[in-house]
Amino acid sequence: MAAIPQSQSQPLPLQDRVAIVTGSSRGIGREIALHLASLGARLVINYTSDSAQAHAVAAQINANSATPRAVVVQADVSDPAQVKSLFDSAQRAFDSPLHILVNSAGVNDGAYPSVADTTVESFDRIFAVNARGAFACAREAANRLKRGGGGRIILLTTSLVAALKPGYGAYTASKAAVEAMAKILAKELKGTQITANCVAPGPIATELFFEGKTKEMVDRVVDTIPLGRLGETKDVASVIGFLATDAAEWVNGQILRVNGGFV
Ligand SMILES: NC(=O)c1ccc[n+]([C@@H]2O[C@H](COP(=O)([O-])OP(=O)(O)OC[C@H]3O[C@@H](n4cnc5c(N)ncnc54)[C@H](OP(=O)(O)O)[C@@H]3O)[C@@H](O)[C@H]2O)c1
Repeated sequence: MAAIPQSQSQPLPLQDRVAIVTGSSRGIGREIALHLASLGARLVINYTSDSAQAHAVAAQINANSATPRAVVVQADVSDPAQVKSLFDSAQRAFDSPLHILVNSAGVNDGAYPSVADTTVESFDRIFAVNARGAFACAREAANRLKRGGGGRIILLTTSLVAALKPGYGAYTASKAAVEAMAKILAKELKGTQITANCVAPGPIATELFFEGKTKEMVDRVVDTIPLGRLGETKDVASVIGFLATDAAEWVNGQILRVNGGFV
């Protein structure tokens, strides 16, 4: 039976837990960071290129707080040394164990080449950020997240792993690798109470989605979604927020597709 709230001053579900969200200067990662902050978490905002955008996200979180609840750390997730220093900075910033990793940093090739037309450079860049980046972040998290409860590894993949659309060969393959790794990681973390899951969005209205697409291409995508619209970043953030809380403890080693019925 659901408990009846006793007072308005109950702690928030993620009260003071420390969350690293990679690629949180914009897009889905930004919305995830803001949502986790609204659930009480302290945030590490990560980016590679646009410092101003990342600091704007942190400023929004810190706006009504006497002590900082968000810090900004630049790190390229494809470089394991930078990922290690991202985690070091997170630990130093809040002098606290780390509880949550959300890996949202990701790239695609906005030319949408067929496999036959994909350059080795494009393939390598996509795998470096999406697959090696997810590996480096998940490896660091597996070694360093708090054990005994509240530890969460959440990796962003894509519903394209199920939809298998032409033009997304390298991108989809990079995310399929992450999904396989996350399922194995969840088993390897037996005994730690750390869960490992993937959240696999469908088409979400962000720069990554719109890159290189004409209005006709966007309309064709919308037509494949039973709910008749593109996803919004908040559609994904709410699911990640749930996964991060204790209520989702029993969800482990899963791929959660969030896509309006796209696949
Ligand atoms: N949008 C969609 O339709 C969709 C669908 C399914 C899955 N996804 C996945 O969801 C995640 C977020 O996508 P999005 O649409 O929010 O993308 P986005 O709007 O392009 O934002 C990407 C974010 O990742 C950061 N980033 C890129 N390369 C990085 C690197 N090497 N190291 C650290 N950060 C890096 C960017 O920061 P800088 O600008 O500083 O580089 C930015 O903050 C990605 O993993 C993507 O594959 C997206």
